[in-house]
Amino acid sequence: MSATSERIIIKGGKPMDGRIRINGAKNSAVALLAAVALTEGSVLLENLPQISDVECMADILQAIGFHLSVEGPGNYRFTAQDDPKSTTPDELAKRMRASYYFMGSLLGRLGESCVALPGGCDIGARPVDQHLKAFRAIGAEVVEDMEGGRISLKAQELKGATIFFDMNTVGATINAMLAACRAQGVTVLENAAREPEVIEVANFLNAMGARVRGAGTETIRIYGVKHLGGCTSTCIPDRIEAGTFMMAAAATKGVLTLVNVIPEHLDAVSAKLGEAGIRVTHGLDWLKVDAQETRPRGIMVKTLPYPGYPTDLQPQAMAFLCKAAGNSRIQETIYERRFGASEGLVAMGAKIRIDGNNAFIEGVESLTGCDVYATDLRCGASLLIAGLSADGETHLHNLHHIDRGYDRLVERLTELGMDLIRVTM
Ligand code: EPU
Repeated sequence: MSATSERIIIKGGKPMDGRIRINGAKNSAVALLAAVALTEGSVLLENLPQISDVECMADILQAIGFHLSVEGPGNYRFTAQDDPKSTTPDELAKRMRASYYFMGSLLGRLGESCVALPGGCDIGARPVDQHLKAFRAIGAEVVEDMEGGRISLKAQELKGATIFFDMNTVGATINAMLAACRAQGVTVLENAAREPEVIEVANFLNAMGARVRGAGTETIRIYGVKHLGGCTSTCIPDRIEAGTFMMAAAATKGVLTLVNVIPEHLDAVSAKLGEAGIRVTHGLDWLKVDAQETRPRGIMVKTLPYPGYPTDLQPQAMAFLCKAAGNSRIQETIYERRFGASEGLVAMGAKIRIDGNNAFIEGVESLTGCDVYATDLRCGASLLIAGLSADGETHLHNLHHIDRGYDRLVERLTELGMDLIRVTM
């Protein structure tokens, strides 16, 4: 793998110490931004994380005809001009996976949409069959242009229907809500995803005038309305960013207080750290991880849909468990290829054996810094955590992956006593 000239150089081995404010959630923000396409008024989104995925979604909104005014850091106001364009620019849409939410929102708003097939992290096959099934069920004709890499949707009329999802899918649940809130009659989503991001999008749609009921349960009912107007909405704290910092504190034997979090969203993560012997306490909107003087124990981690342990924190758990006492096992049940971090971790001295969707980790006393390469966003976070807990110097490459999902990571970790610097060589 070739190294880009930009890298983060980490001098590991220092315990994390301090207080960190958690940003707005990436996976909520990108869905809310696509939902903006449904408004015929003016929408203010507050507390958006300042990451490249958010910028890309905002660029798409502007390209299809929304006016953007930035009213402060992370506070974006979008105002509808005329009807938006139904086609998103290919170059922007292909950059990130969440652009596929414009399929649903533009279909709902205009009765048609044309969006290039999504990019995003390479963590295994990520089909969109459940999204397309939902669009077809409410009356859209689907044309897949394999050569141009686009999916076009067109409906004479969107009509409520019952859709049964074959698996827990956050993306298809949200996309179906986006399209159905302007359909005639009632749409029922069965076996819907229950992630906090789904609830967040439903709340936002309702604030714009939609009637979405039951988000957060397995059955969501969407009563179609004729018009969606303006509103103000604040992005929820990022449970994955928070969990990443929790793992980093645990891996560096540090003490960290996280503020602006919803502790309930992190119950599975706190429970796993607790099983490993790390003390986690919390109040209404804060969490504290205290990993001083403890060598964590090896544990079993199985990724599951919410409220289970999130797949987006699986690579970070792997980094943390490399130095735990005894054996750990990680079972990945959501994606077929999400052990990309193991290569870099092994290069640093970890003992990891991958067998299908299981990773078996034999805890080692120490890791040693070396050159490591992010292959996707959370793999990058994992290698960064390993570097913070390793002896010597780690050079982390392929930073564009990390920039997609983490804002000012180097600066914020430095404020917590970590020794790292971003350089171009
Ligand atoms: N799936 C299908 N068909 C579909 C849709 C999904 O087979 O039509 C499968 C997927 O291949 C996967 C599983 O269902 O195996 C779950 O996929 P889901 O639709 O829930 O994932 P997503 O909506 O594409 C979001 C996050 C991911 C996160 C997953 C699971 C966004 C933009 N992305 O993806 O976040 O891993 O939910 O929680 O919200 C990340 O942030 O690093 C990231 C990858």
